[in-house]
Amino acid sequence: MASYDVIIIGAGPGGYVCAIRCAQLGLKTAVVEGRETLGGTCLNVGCIPSKALLHASHQLHEAEHNFEKMGLKGKAPSVDWKQMLAYKDEVIGQNTKGIEFLFKKNKVDWIKGWGSIPEAGRVKVGDEIHEAKNIVIATGSEPSSLPGVEVDEKVVVTSTGALDLPKIPKTMAVIGGGVIGLELGSVYARLGAQVTVIEYLDAITPGMDGEVQKTFQRILKKQGLDFIMGAAVQSVEALKTKARVDYKLRKDDSEHQIEADVVLVATGRKPFTDGLGLDGLGVELTKRGQIRTDDHWQTSVKGIYAIGDAIEGPMLAHKAEDEGMAVAEVLAGKHGHVNYGVIPGVIYTHPEVANVGETEESLKEQGRAYKVGKFSFMGNGRAKAVFAGEGFVKILADKETDRILGAHVIGPAAGELIHEVCVAMEFGAAAEDLALTCHAHPTFSEAVREAALACGDGAIHA
Ligand code: NAI
Repeated sequence: MASYDVIIIGAGPGGYVCAIRCAQLGLKTAVVEGRETLGGTCLNVGCIPSKALLHASHQLHEAEHNFEKMGLKGKAPSVDWKQMLAYKDEVIGQNTKGIEFLFKKNKVDWIKGWGSIPEAGRVKVGDEIHEAKNIVIATGSEPSSLPGVEVDEKVVVTSTGALDLPKIPKTMAVIGGGVIGLELGSVYARLGAQVTVIEYLDAITPGMDGEVQKTFQRILKKQGLDFIMGAAVQSVEALKTKARVDYKLRKDDSEHQIEADVVLVATGRKPFTDGLGLDGLGVELTKRGQIRTDDHWQTSVKGIYAIGDAIEGPMLAHKAEDEGMAVAEVLAGKHGHVNYGVIPGVIYTHPEVANVGETEESLKEQGRAYKVGKFSFMGNGRAKAVFAGEGFVKILADKETDRILGAHVIGPAAGELIHEVCVAMEFGAAAEDLALTCHAHPTFSEAVREAALACGDGAIHA
């Protein structure tokens, strides 16, 4: 029986980061992971492979739509789908092997297999029991389907199947206009599929700034995606080579159908805690099946901690990573901390969409007085030079103190630009602090500064 200071169950971004930090802080650490490769959903069937396909399909889109304008003549490249998938798999391999290397470097043991917790202080993997002073559950999440929808990962797929389709479908129905539906819908639309997004609500990307939602949907429509809004999917029936989606429009309860070669179910994810034995342990769950934790990520059972998608909060890799590091600090007797008010969200479409902090809607709901500084990328020279003038930066600041409360970006490199605002928010900065910071010209970042200027005496290029 091996004995550890910490055993972490799950080697996704939450678990593997937690393990590395635990080892760096001098704790004897092991990670239990049943997948063939480390990295969890994010590296194997999520963030990383989807970014490879988004990158490749964006290159094609550029060749088809913008090359000629720049004087680059000739036929746009054709798609070798097998090679594109091989490229994606190569990217996955590099990343998962990288974590294996980091484990060896930091002396983190990888216990291969699926773990369960017979009691606090013990983790069972296969027939073996391992002892640990503390256990961290980092088992992530899995797609949550809908009643009446059976996923076969061939015709009716989740994001996992959508990253490995045998061929590019001619038609694709996407159930759910959230992050996954729009990222993967974009990939297949660029590769030539007719993509129809069926969304229950009246706006895409729930919870996002309303103005961003509208602009985003308009841009995606222009890129060829169709939207059926306010539609509740009732069932999906697999036909021979296609599938049929039955949905009801919420406004009048009318019933409709749509057929597609592939149906992508992207209606959210749920915590993955099967087989851990939580019931027997008495670990408390929330109504939504998330593991309940205290301020130090400890569950209702002493010595058992939980982080990432398995607990409350946004299901984001970087949120899990931050919690992983914080728990490691707590277990090493230090002070782990996560600022949940400053967790950026990014959608990696083109243009990218990014946000942090409050939205106008959430501020109104709280009855807080705020001001808005907005700047369009049309006024940004660099953006115009690369056909990326669509979109804007919006900064929300406290009306009295000018303290930055949130930011919303739709436009080029939004996923990078947002971090300037995150750092500013971590330091409790005012919009004026950003506005007074010299920004190199010509960069997309100048749009952030201009939005900050717009919170004060006004942007220059607006
Ligand atoms: P989501 O929660 O972002 O979106 C699901 C959408 O499905 C919602 O708009 C919802 O209204 C809609 N929906 C639910 N039931 C429906 C029905 N019966 N008919 C029609 N529409 C229905 O979930 P998604 O996109 O599956 O993503 C899951 C999680 O993964 C999210 O928490 C997301 O943050 C995370 N993720 C993050 C990424 C990123 O940060 N770039 C990329 C991919 C996933």
